[in-house]
Amino acid sequence: MIASVIDTARWTAYYRALESERSDAIFRDPYARKLAGKRAEDVVRRIPRARASSWGIVLRTVVIDQKILDAVQTQQVDTVLNLACGLDTRPFRLPLPSTLAWIEVDLPEVIAYKGSILTNDRVACRLESIGMDLSDSDARRRLFAHVDGTAHRVLVVSEGFLLYLSANTVAALARDLHAFPRFSYWMTDVTSPLLLRLDQVFGRPVQRWVSPMRFAPRDNRAFFEPYGWTIRDFRPLAVEGERLHREPPFARLLRAGRIVLRGKWRDAFRDSSGVLLLERSSQPAPVLPGGIRRHTTGTLLKLRHRHRGESKESIEEYRMEYTGWNPLVPALELLAVILVIGAAIVIGRRLRQRG
Ligand SMILES: C[S@@+](CC[C@H](N)C(=O)[O-])C[C@H]1O[C@@H](n2cnc3c(N)ncnc32)[C@H](O)[C@@H]1O
Repeated sequence: MIASVIDTARWTAYYRALESERSDAIFRDPYARKLAGKRAEDVVRRIPRARASSWGIVLRTVVIDQKILDAVQTQQVDTVLNLACGLDTRPFRLPLPSTLAWIEVDLPEVIAYKGSILTNDRVACRLESIGMDLSDSDARRRLFAHVDGTAHRVLVVSEGFLLYLSANTVAALARDLHAFPRFSYWMTDVTSPLLLRLDQVFGRPVQRWVSPMRFAPRDNRAFFEPYGWTIRDFRPLAVEGERLHREPPFARLLRAGRIVLRGKWRDAFRDSSGVLLLERSSQPAPVLPGGIRRHTTGTLLKLRHRHRGESKESIEEYRMEYTGWNPLVPALELLAVILVIGAAIVIGRRLRQRG
């Protein structure tokens, strides 16, 4: 069904098209429909409950739109570097200054497809589209060096990209980005282990066709700080969804969780996904003897690694384990459902016997 990587980009463009065509649309992307094409519509129609996963894409679009405009207007950002841009059309549809440099990167086939569709459309700023494989670390460092050499202050955007990478790959990207001093900000959407789990349960039909989500750190601060990125702002999509009336299918569950739970558990429900704005800190967290980076937060990580005296690589392996999916969980969930149904049947029979 989703046969190529372009389909994943078409798929998100299709959700932007659906939102844009609503009478109460919270943003308008006039190019999304033609970029998504008929193919995206067919794919979404055939995948059960696929439309239900549009809320996150719609909300992150709005939040990232606002934050880009804010960074350009108030933080002297003169260059936006959009990694894995897909069929994003912000350089065409946002009121950006004509002096802004916008560099977008995706796989060559995606960039070629986009260029073949957006032929005569007016771009607001200076747009450069680069087709390259971002998993080629030498090529991406060459690109970053080129951008760093021409910019004053860069905002990196990675939207709908990190979620599908392993923690190792995100860590390597974070390190590479920090190596270039003009890369001042980095905006990305993030998911928590809780939402990853809900998505594995409710989003299964979609997961069969699209890459499964992988990157879901429990503590974003603990994950990004050691690579020199501090959190400047976090916008929870649950809060934005309530404000803008675009809520996920399990919104009631999230809301009930927030009412019933207290303290950090309540925050975990509210912060289960969102848009993170990271700011470069002058130094990554210091490296301890033996190459272990000291985490300024994330006590659990710190204690385990100090205790075991592991190498740097194993920290990243541990993070993989930290974000990974435990097959015991669905087994226990199934057991709980069977027990509840069994108990309901027994209680029902007893009540009928009494009656
Ligand atoms: C889910 S789409 C998101 C696209 C866009 N950022 C958006 O939000 O609509 C993921 C994008 O990552 C791109 N991508 C995946 N692996 C890549 C790689 N190794 N190098 C460059 N782009 C990649 C895909 O081509 C696709 O456009």
